Formats: sequence, structure tokens, C-alpha cells
Amino acid sequence: MKRIFAIISVLVLMGAQALAKDGALDRKIDRIVASLTLEEKASLLVGVWEEGGPSNIISSAGRTHGVERLGIGMTTMNDGPTGLRMDTLRKGFPDERYYCTGFPSACLLAATWNDEIVSRVGACIGDEMNAYGCDLLLAPSLNIQRNPLCGRNFEYYSEDPYLAGHTAARMVSGMQSKGVGATIKHFAANSQQTARVANDARVSERALREIYLRNFEIAVCEGDPVAVMSSLNWVNGTRTAASEPLLTGVLRDEWGWDGVVMTDWFDPENTGACLHAGNDLFMGGNPRQVEDIIKGVKDGGIAMSDVDRNVRNVLRYILRTPSHAGLEPTYAPDLKADAEVALEAAREGIVLLKNEGGALPLAGGGPVAVFGVGSYIWYANGTGSADVNKPYVVTLMDGLEAAGINVHPTVDEYYRRYLAAEQVQLRETNTNTWRNWFFGFKRPAEARPNSWFLDLRAGDCDAAVITLSRNAGESLDRDFVQGDFLLTDDEQSLIDAVCEAFHAKGKKVIVVLNMGSQIDVRPFKDKADAIVLAWQPGQEGGRAVADVLKGDVNPSGKLPSTWAPSYEDYPSSANFPTHYEFSWEDVKPYAPASTRHTRNLGYTLYEEGIWVGYRWFNTYGKDVVWPFGHGLSYTTFEWSDARIISRDSEGVNLAVTVANTGPVPGKDVVQLYSTAPKTEGFDTPLRELRAYAKTSLLEPGCSEEVRLRVKWADLASFHEDSHSWISPAGTYRLSLASSVEDVRSELEVRLKKKLERPVKAVLAAPAEPKPTAVVLGDSYSTFAKQIPEGYKCWYFTSPKEDNDVCEVRQTWWCQLCDSLGVDLVLNSSYSGSTVCNTGYHGADATESSFVTRVSECIELQPDILFIFGGTNDSWAKSPVGSLKYSDWSEGDLKCFLPAFCRMLDRIKTEAPGTKVVNIVNSDLSPEITEGQAEACRHYGVTCVMLHDIGKGHGHPNSAGMKAICSQVLDCVSAMK
Ligand code: BGC
Repeated sequence: MKRIFAIISVLVLMGAQALAKDGALDRKIDRIVASLTLEEKASLLVGVWEEGGPSNIISSAGRTHGVERLGIGMTTMNDGPTGLRMDTLRKGFPDERYYCTGFPSACLLAATWNDEIVSRVGACIGDEMNAYGCDLLLAPSLNIQRNPLCGRNFEYYSEDPYLAGHTAARMVSGMQSKGVGATIKHFAANSQQTARVANDARVSERALREIYLRNFEIAVCEGDPVAVMSSLNWVNGTRTAASEPLLTGVLRDEWGWDGVVMTDWFDPENTGACLHAGNDLFMGGNPRQVEDIIKGVKDGGIAMSDVDRNVRNVLRYILRTPSHAGLEPTYAPDLKADAEVALEAAREGIVLLKNEGGALPLAGGGPVAVFGVGSYIWYANGTGSADVNKPYVVTLMDGLEAAGINVHPTVDEYYRRYLAAEQVQLRETNTNTWRNWFFGFKRPAEARPNSWFLDLRAGDCDAAVITLSRNAGESLDRDFVQGDFLLTDDEQSLIDAVCEAFHAKGKKVIVVLNMGSQIDVRPFKDKADAIVLAWQPGQEGGRAVADVLKGDVNPSGKLPSTWAPSYEDYPSSANFPTHYEFSWEDVKPYAPASTRHTRNLGYTLYEEGIWVGYRWFNTYGKDVVWPFGHGLSYTTFEWSDARIISRDSEGVNLAVTVANTGPVPGKDVVQLYSTAPKTEGFDTPLRELRAYAKTSLLEPGCSEEVRLRVKWADLASFHEDSHSWISPAGTYRLSLASSVEDVRSELEVRLKKKLERPVKAVLAAPAEPKPTAVVLGDSYSTFAKQIPEGYKCWYFTSPKEDNDVCEVRQTWWCQLCDSLGVDLVLNSSYSGSTVCNTGYHGADATESSFVTRVSECIELQPDILFIFGGTNDSWAKSPVGSLKYSDWSEGDLKCFLPAFCRMLDRIKTEAPGTKVVNIVNSDLSPEITEGQAEACRHYGVTCVMLHDIGKGHGHPNSAGMKAICSQVLDCVSAMK
């Protein structure tokens, strides 16, 4: 009965989508918006990160608030990219467990190059969402695999934007065909996990357009997802959640998309800015954000029209959800049927990288010796929010057994005993902690069976299989160290020893790679006879790999990313963090300044521009081990009759016939790359993927005509000078290829007239980050409040403002920093009065606040630090009783100067790269200024003595400020 209801509800949902088209939904939304109070609107814009929902599954990643009086209920969101992620418990059913299917990792799905299977995986996830009452999946993730060490590569699709975007679109369509919603994430340029909330991706406009936004453009335009998740990172100085050009300009105005944008699960520092930029929904959601919105509207900082616009977008999502349509969860997904789809997908995406001398499929039926800890501790997925609570995992060993492969029992026994002993030692490390959940459990080191044992097995086994495995996940990138990108000595010695023993007896060695991204293959690529990339293949993966090894399945996966000879060969390797020590501070909403200002942590220069992955290797003739698109088969294919069938004003249609000329059934993939006509002074990649298609399973001797279409507009490159996509007139080469380096046919087409599509400029990147200057100043820095847009005002504490000099102050430091070409960061408050706690400024003038200010400056590690201010006569002569630093209670001079020296001492030792400039008003206390000058000489600090700058209460007047400006400028330009 519930099932029938579910089907009816899906029909109701489709009805709801139809509503959207004829405008009825929008009219309904208008009516609702008109009747909502400000408080209700604010709560609709902020999610709930609570455990448990109204009635169903115990955990979700988050929900939206409802408005009960209007019949609007909560909606439920869950991760993730490899299947529906939820807890296994349900309210009121403590003895039952509820599971979801663990599908293969995204990188494997992309490696299928098979639209149909990806859509079916999406549809199965959609079914499971309906079964458990989930409205919106927080997936797919489609960021670019820019660097092999990105921790989330397994849940991303490809280094190529077309493959990533198109695969994501298929996933979205499959899922949404079931009436639920998909969220494409993380928008945009989220290709690094280290310092993931602080990291500013500094990308050229062209690279953004052609690589890091192009994948999203394709997914949005082809898939029309219900939601987009803005990323945690920043792009070119703006947090993406607060970027109007990205969220409104590109997503909505340019791509014409009308879904809902949400934040990733953190608490951005600027609710109003995000809301205004077009970030509709704040997730996971913090009640403080509701307050921010209400207060912002009341005091005018947030426009009601922005609130209403965002509420409309949120309602458009809510009113189309299964929950709103009244769909009741059945709690009974068809896990058996879905497991078959997971298996089929895994079989399609496994890539046979190498197969020398017909090492595979395993022949003969004799025993196989299975080595490697990875064969026994198998990774079905990566870690973090893309992991799934699946009912079981078929490991490689389970799979081999199910496929009837004869596994040599003593090797099996050897590993089981070894692992049992090792696990005991790891028991205390591998507790069930959040950290372990996030970063994965520690695995025993690789075993080193002795040569006597290996010789025996080489004698009585047909072949050896060695699994190498790696795991990773969100929040942490992989590292360029042994045990991660590099092999450990134990792994290396196992491979060497097994190869030596087995090859000596003429037996083959097969290496299985169980991982989501590249490793160093130099140590084994020539030694192993066959190499199988199994990825992290989901809960059924062990079966799929065994089927491939046995030959029951002919591999047809193709690489979605390039495998280079060494890490340094990847074009982004110079601009990616390595050897990073994880710190919880760095994942707080606002990371410490020391992180924000450090290269590859706080910011990363995407110096390689558009030359990501094969665009670099292929265009510049760089060596690769396995090129993008590569993947072997047990059969052979011949391609013939490649031709252009027709062309029209929008594009070109091509065809090629693929025949299976080998001994077993198999599938092949036709990849279409374009080469643009040369444009003077503008480099374009040698080949760029524009379309692809996979054949059906071809029996030996059978053939199939594969058809492809490419649009003229999609052949364009992005020109920054005119901010436009241009497909130049001229002759384009269209290559039909089996990998980016294995071109089978080349065709030429002529575009008579140049096509140009101008767009708005997005977030142009500063090529180099500006150095930073920090001002540790007294109340002169009160102008921070009026600091013009574009300058960073990091910290401000001085409570008093001198209006008479405000105007000058507004521009004073800015002028200075402009002339120095540095970014200004302000920090206050410091002065003699602060140090000596005379209470002037009524400030937080205590020793600890002074020390805090200094520490903050040090933490910023600025390029230049201006220390501004000192103390004056009156303070120097103030009664001893008003001083708080009892150690120095004999007089002001003794109060100020030791503190000043201590500050310089700390700065010089803790921020050795910082140039320090002390600016002193010599009109104040000669004794003290002299003391300061002396201290500066001692610590090697530049000291600028200002003369005749006007006094006020110890502070200069406007004319004095101008004088300061020119004196400091002179001094600093001398420094340059
Ligand atoms: C991840 C997102 C995920 C969210 C909710 C965040 O930490 O970056 O991808 O959807 O958590 O679990």
C-alpha cells in the first residue's frame, strides 16, 4: 500500500514540477511570501542541524525549518556522492537496522564513460531517498581533480570539466527522475581540503571559466539540479558563499538556473553578505544566523527584497519535495536490486591499466596467491560525508571466492594471522572517535612474507595478486610521503620479492590498485605484468574486481585523469600543500591569520591556469604513464568509416563504426577531442574533450555505429580581455580517439563565422597575492571604520574616534599601502597609554590585551608591520599609582620602554620575515622617543621620527597627519 502511495506521490511531485512551468507555483509562492512574518522568513533561510527529524530516520545532514501554520513542513537533506548516507537507526525501532547501498566512488563512475549506468545509479539513490524520507541529496560532487593529493578526489569525477559536468548531469537526472532533488557541489574551485574553510583559490578568469566553472555550467544546463552548494573555500579573495558574481551573476543571470543555493556545513562570518550575494540557505544552520537576519533587516543592513528573493528560492525547493507532497517513507528500499546496479557500475568503471603477455584474465583455474594487506582490508569508499552505512562490503577476498577463483589457503591464512596480531596492537589507536571516522582508521603496515614462503607459492600457484590501497576523505588532503603518494619500504619490498619469486618460475604478477586517486607508480609499473585500477568500488567492488580478473567481465573503464611518472610532473604540484599538520583551528569558520596568510594554506595560486591534467601533458608533449582516457580490454576493436554526417547552424554530427575484432565480447569508448584553429597570441590545448559515447556489449565479429554531436559554441575558449567565449572562425580538427594520446581518426570542419558570447567578468584573480602590511597603532587607526572597500580590516579595538582628522585618516594608511603595493590589514590598539594602562581611550588597556594585540600581529606574519605611537610627557610623569605593571612601578619610563623592548624582541624572533617600522612623534616626550629610537637600533628596526606634526592631546591634527604621511612614505620608499 505504501509503495502505491509512493508511486502516486511521485506523480504528484511531477505535477508539482509542471506547476512551476505554468507559473502556478510562483503565484503560490508569492502568496506565501506575502503572509510570512520576518521571523518566519528568517527561519526558512537557516537550516537545522539537529539530530532526528519529525518521524523518520535518525540522522540527516540537515533539515529546513517549516512554518506549521501554513502547512509547510520540514524537509530532509542527506549526503552523499556514493549513496544515501544516514544512520542505521530509526526512531522507535531499536532492534532494526536500516541500510543504504554503497555505490562505487565517483571517480569510478566517471571511469565508466557510460551515461546510462550513471543515470541508473542516480535513480537507485533516488529510490532509496524516497524509501527513507530524504528530499534532497547533497551530491553529486563534481570539483576538478586538480592535484592527485586532494583528499576528496574519490568523490569527484575527473580532471576534465566536460567529463565531470556531464557525468554529474547524468547522476542528477537519474536521481531527480524519482521526484527527489540533487545538489551539485561544491561551487566552485574546491580542489583542496587543507585549511578548507580558509583557502582562497586564486585562479585566472580564463581558468575559472574553462575549467572550474565549466563543469558546473554543464551540470546545471544539462541536469537542472534542484540545489547548488557553495563551497567552503574562497575564490580570488571572496568567500564563494558571499560572492554575488558567482551565485547570482553566473549561476542565475547567466545560466538561467532557478534552484536553491545553500552554504556548505559551516558558519560563514558574514550572514548579510552571503544572503545578499544569493546564498539562499544557511546550512547546517545556526540559530544565531536567524537573529542576524532579523536584526539585519531591522537595522537596514539587509534588504527585505533580498530576504524575499531567497525565501522564494527556498520555497520553490520545499514545495516540490516528496515531504511536502506527503510521501511517507516505506523504510523498505529494494537493496537487492540496487546492489546489482552497484555491481554493474563497478564492473563498468574498473580500468585495466596494463596487461602484458596476456597476464589477465587468469587462466588455468590453478591457485592464486593473494598478497597485500589491501586485499584483506578493502576500501569500498573514501571517508567523511561520502561514506555510506552499507549493509555489507564484498572485499576482494570475498569476491574471489564468489567467482570461484582458487585462492591459495596458506597465503590467506598467513595474512589473517598477521592482521589479527597487528590489529591487537592498533586497537587503542583505532577507537571509534570522530577523528578516526573523519580521517580513517590506521592500517597495519604491509607484511613481508619471507623468500622461502614466496618460492613455495610461486611453485604451487598460477599467479600472484598484490593489492595496494590508499584511503582519503574530506578535511584532509593526502600527502607526498611514504604510505600515501609514495610506497612504503614494506610495500616496495613485497612487490620486489613477489615479482622475483613468481617471475623466476614464469608466473605472472597482477597488481590491484584500491584507491581513489593517483600514487607513485614508478616502483612497480614495469615489474607487474598486469595492473588493475579497482578504485574504491563500493559495496560490491570485490565481486566486480574478481569478475574482471577471471575474465567473466571484460574491462571497459577509461581513465578520467592522467597518471604521470612522478608527483612533480603534475602541473599543480608546486602549488599544493604537502606535509601539513592538521589543526582544528584551521577548520573553524574563520581560521587563524597565520593560516590565512600562508601560501597553499590560506591561499593557493592556480598558477597552471587552464593547463590542468591532460591539457598540460598532451599539449606540451610531457611523458605520462597512462594518459587521460586510457583503458585496456581483453578484446580488440577496429574503428572505421569515421565521418561527419551532417552540420547545422548549432553544431556537427559525427559517426564512426566500432567493430569487435577480438575473441570475447566487449565495450569500447569513443572519445571526441577538438583542436581549435590557431589564434595569434592565444594558446589553446592541443586537444579538449567535447563528447564521448560507449558502445553496447559487442559480441566478437559484431559492430556498432557510434554517433556523437558537438556544438560550435562548445568549441569556444575564454578570452579575458573581452570577457567572452569565442569560437574563432576557421578549421577545427575533431579527433576520434581511444585516449587523448591514441587518436584513431581525424576529421576537419570549418566554422565560417566567428562565434562570440560575452559574459560578465567574474572575480578576476590577482596574479600574485599582495604582501600584507599590518598597523599596530593607537587611536589613529580608528579610521578603520571608514576604510574603503577592497582593504581588509582585520581587527579593531580602539573605541574612540577623533572626528577632526577622520577624513585624513580614511585615506592615510591606504595611500601608504597603495604606494607600497601591499594589502593593508589593521590591528589596534597599542600606544604608550595602552601599555602602561593609564586608561586613556577608556580602552581595554591591560597588559594581557596588549600582549594579545602583539600576538595577533605576529600571527599574521605580515610583510611589513608599522608600529605607531608611544607615550608622552604627561604619561611619563603620571603618578606611579596609576600604573598597573607592578614590576615596573617606578615610573612611566620604566613601564613603557621595557614593554616596548619586549614587544620588539618577540616580533623579531617570532616573525623574523617581517620588516618592522616604528613611527614615533618626536614632539611628545624626548626621553621616551630617544629610548624608543635606541631600542629600535638595538633590534634592527627602522625608526621614523616625526617632527612638527601638531599636537592636540598628544595626537596630530589634519596637517600633522599629512606630514606624517609624507614622512613615512619617504622613509618607506627609502626602504624599498
Ligand atoms: C561537506 C559537504 C557535506 C556536508 C554535510 C561538509 O563537511 O563538505 O560536502 O555535504 O558536510 O554533511
